[in-house]
Amino acid sequence: MIRSVIIGTGSQLPARRVSNAELAEQVDTTDEWIVERTGIRFRYVAAPEETTSTLATGACKAALAAAGVDAQSIDLIILATATPDQTFPASATKVQAALGIDDCVAFDVAAVCSGFLYALQVADSMIRAGVHKRALVIGAETFSRILDWEDRTTCVLFGDGAGAIVLDAQESDAGQGRGILATRLHADGRHNELLYVDGGPSTTGTVGKVRMKGREVFRHAVVNLASVMEESLAAAGLAAAQVDWVVPHQANARILDATARKLGLAPEKVIVTVDQHANTSAASVPLALDTAVRDGRIKANDLIVLEAMGGGFTWGAAVVRF
Ligand code: UT7
Repeated sequence: MIRSVIIGTGSQLPARRVSNAELAEQVDTTDEWIVERTGIRFRYVAAPEETTSTLATGACKAALAAAGVDAQSIDLIILATATPDQTFPASATKVQAALGIDDCVAFDVAAVCSGFLYALQVADSMIRAGVHKRALVIGAETFSRILDWEDRTTCVLFGDGAGAIVLDAQESDAGQGRGILATRLHADGRHNELLYVDGGPSTTGTVGKVRMKGREVFRHAVVNLASVMEESLAAAGLAAAQVDWVVPHQANARILDATARKLGLAPEKVIVTVDQHANTSAASVPLALDTAVRDGRIKANDLIVLEAMGGGFTWGAAVVRF
């Protein structure tokens, strides 16, 4: 059968890394509070010339090099972001131009922190339908641009960055073959007001700033993430005990621990980058994936589960034989 196989991963972070201590000089917070409540120690903040599309382009170049394939062989680019360079055109088309790809399908997906999972399911469906052969799937954000830097309940939590994968249509064994084995997505728009941006082109005509009721989001996150992981594993005919690595959305170390515990997974199987990157929204899953591939933890044929939850609410998971 034809499956979408991940043949390369890449990422790019802005040059500037900001510590909790630096933030504590600007807002009423402490390194102790941030570490204890979130596990975050650092985040990266983009300079004016570093945009969502430039970070995404850097991540794509690294992913293409890792895959050993030429940019011209890409026929689909899907970029998940809540912080596009401009309202339009889609940042995916800016990445296409920067990579020198003459013609392909390119568009953005907006599902905030679950954006990469949404983009992955769309790309996988298009590949398995035979419409496309090779895709770049990207999560890229410059959340620092939409943070209220005077609101300590949000500004300490987020960071900027980009991660990308190359997906290739390959013949794969129906049982244990490599590729995306199952994906599951959900949305529940009744919770819009728990995590949102207070502006937009059609309402205020401004970009707006992030607003979040953190405690409420936390409660939903653990329940939704555990259940969608179970659902996607069941769809793939697999059990949690067979999973080699969980690559979660990096919002809060306590969410990662609680979700792993609910599924009976050892904490050593969870890839954690929230301490180094903070919450990079749609970029966090592909950034964590690339980190663990490059440091040698995730290897070919490992069974991995990707998961994320964010504004909307939206949430999802994917089971992948890497
Ligand atoms: O990526 C999308 C998904 N997002 C998430 O999953 C985020 C989920 N939520 C969380 O991670 C946590 O709820 C937070 C990290 C946002 C907050 O942790 P919490 O343990 O739920 O704290 P809290 O909101 O209940 O606030 C506790 C106290 C409050 O003070 P009072 O009212 O108890 O006096 C806050 O004002 O901590 C205070 N506080 C801070 N103190 C120092 C809030 N932010 C800060 C801060 N520094 N930065």
